[in-house]
Amino acid sequence: MSHSAVRRLPSWAPVLLLVVALVLTGCAPDQYPQTTLLPRADYAREADDILRKTLLWATIVFVLVEGALLVAIWKFRDRPGAAEPVQTHGNTTLEIVWTIIPAFILAMIAVPTVRTIFKTAQKPGPDALQVEVIGHQWWWEFRYPQLGITTAGELRVPSGRTVSLEMTTADVLHSFWLPQFAGKRDVFPGRYNNLWFKAEVEGNFPAQCVEFCGVQHGRMAYRIVSLKPEEFDAWAANFNTPPKDFSADSTAAQLVKDGQGLFLTKGCVGCHSMYPALPLIGPNLHHVGSRSHIAAGTLPNTDENLAKWIQHPQAWKPGVLMPDLGLTDPEAQALVAYLRANQ
Ligand code: CUA
Repeated sequence: MSHSAVRRLPSWAPVLLLVVALVLTGCAPDQYPQTTLLPRADYAREADDILRKTLLWATIVFVLVEGALLVAIWKFRDRPGAAEPVQTHGNTTLEIVWTIIPAFILAMIAVPTVRTIFKTAQKPGPDALQVEVIGHQWWWEFRYPQLGITTAGELRVPSGRTVSLEMTTADVLHSFWLPQFAGKRDVFPGRYNNLWFKAEVEGNFPAQCVEFCGVQHGRMAYRIVSLKPEEFDAWAANFNTPPKDFSADSTAAQLVKDGQGLFLTKGCVGCHSMYPALPLIGPNLHHVGSRSHIAAGTLPNTDENLAKWIQHPQAWKPGVLMPDLGLTDPEAQALVAYLRANQ
């Protein structure tokens, strides 16, 4: 591009380019932003309260210190013929004051911080909904021992009820984060960490792994789906049914029957369970059609994306454990039909 061409660009061109780039890269804003600054659960409010208190004190300190600095710069600036200002060495009163004030401010921050650390470290009672969270390269598994459910990619919770998470990893370090509901916790092999929260609202919220865990760390997202209690109960009851056997169903479409056959013969069944409570090394696929995203938040869960994903997982997430099986287009469509039908 010549110099004159650059000069002719209107001033808003970079903004337009940025917007186009964001749209093209699929960086569309989520309905709910992935932020800790909008607390929607009791735990998140505790953390937000500490942040606001600390920010208030930091703002007061900033204004006073910078203000004093500006006054000193102005008042004692060099002027022609001005005498040297009074030089002070050692002032006991001043030193006591500037020790007491910071000590007071630190205490005002430390007391609520320590109180919150102890409060959030407590374990909720037995009435809480128990969920085991297991990190995998590169997806999250969620097991509900009280409900006999194993699922992946979507942490479904009822609003208004405390959820108690017990978290670990099947392989390397990951970090689990509930942006608007609770904090972050690293997960370690052979160890269990805890986190709890009580969702105040319903919705489908984005979240992602926040500890580098390999080449696809950036595509290890998940959703937190908060439902009304009756909707959650209905989901759990509906989920807790064994997979249908379409080969024995005279009303099932041939495509679905073909898909079921391919699921068994192409090796999918070696890693992916269709039984609601059975964990295998890959994500449990019982009711996968009801999830909003697939491939750990990488793609919206449409028929087209599901077919693309199972045909070419290595193209979407290089290094992922799922191999390219060389599925033809009709085979991929049959598998999609089978996965969709089973819910
Ligand atoms: Cu898992 Cu980063």
